[in-house]
Amino acid sequence: MAERPTVFVSGSLLGDVVARLAQDFEVVTSEDGVRSDAFAACADRVEGILALITDRIDPALLTRAPKLRIVANVAVGVDNVDLAACQARGVTVTNTPDVLTEATADVAFGLLIAAARRICEGDRLVRAGGWQRWTPTFMLGTRVHGMTLGIVGFGRIGKAMARRARGFGMHVLYTQRKRAPEPMERALGATWVASLDELCAASDAVTIHCPLTPETRGLFDAARLARMRPGSILVNTARGPIVDEAALAAALANGPLAAAGLDVFEREPSVHPELLVRPNAVLAPHIGSADLPTRVAMARLAAENVLRVLAGEPPLTPVSA
Ligand code: NAP
Ligand code: GLV
Repeated sequence: MAERPTVFVSGSLLGDVVARLAQDFEVVTSEDGVRSDAFAACADRVEGILALITDRIDPALLTRAPKLRIVANVAVGVDNVDLAACQARGVTVTNTPDVLTEATADVAFGLLIAAARRICEGDRLVRAGGWQRWTPTFMLGTRVHGMTLGIVGFGRIGKAMARRARGFGMHVLYTQRKRAPEPMERALGATWVASLDELCAASDAVTIHCPLTPETRGLFDAARLARMRPGSILVNTARGPIVDEAALAAALANGPLAAAGLDVFEREPSVHPELLVRPNAVLAPHIGSADLPTRVAMARLAAENVLRVLAGEPPLTPVSA
């Protein structure tokens, strides 16, 4: 009998995914991902990898895995994968778009409200026994409803933010390289702004939803943060390296920012020490897609892509370089 193809599953995926894959493949798993001894032991025969964002898929890995045919990233962002190297080697790359859009927008909107209205700061104060009494000036925050929200990256999650913003009576601006069709702008009540600086200067809060690319790395550096409105809020659920964390901590300490809500960091799971001590930074441990149905859907979509590609069929959600 011919040997079954080997598929490597990084981490512990939810749902029936590993059982389904095991019907057709020899499945090797490890919590330590492609850095593990388990991966090293099967690298020379592995044909498919279900990868997490913590796995680096680079030319060195591709050299170790000569039979690799598909990398199915269990995430929509693919900045952990060297797409050009995979394409040059004929390795298909897939991601998990759409199934995590609403969950991630929920967390981004939650971070916006928590940062603007100082909810986590208040929680810490109450627990520490520091709440004395109600006074008219106690813990004043930034008004959320009716604010102007600037969206950087008007893709799936950016648009989901615009839908939420309408319910809060917000004025929505967006920027990205290509303007959205006008009927889409009208349906979402969003106004295109050509430059990021213009968007920053006009927004009470800015929320980041573009991918991490060479172009977006460091997009929010000290100079750009300085151009944001005094008293404004920055939310980042996209990728940490889009924002310079040291510059952000300074902008939170000295202005112009009133607060920030962050789900992603430059060097996860580390967080810049100056951010850790800023009371006006709300910090979440990269939980944008972390609700159970979403994580099951992500795992199933990634597995379906592997099943298809290893059966010689086109994947559902390919990513090109
Ligand atoms: P998407 O649908 O591809 O949208 C990304 C948008 O960013 C596109 O509309 C794109 O438009 C825009 N963009 C690309 N380069 C840009 C630039 N230089 N400046 C401004 N806009 C730019 O992706 P998505 O599904 O919404 O996901 C967005 C990102 O969120 C992912 O890449 C991932 O990093 C992150 N994410 C994080 C979590 C989490 O757990 N925190 C969960 C899911 C996703 P143009 O090409 O026209 O510029
Ligand atoms: C998570 O960060 C994702 O890109 O799906």
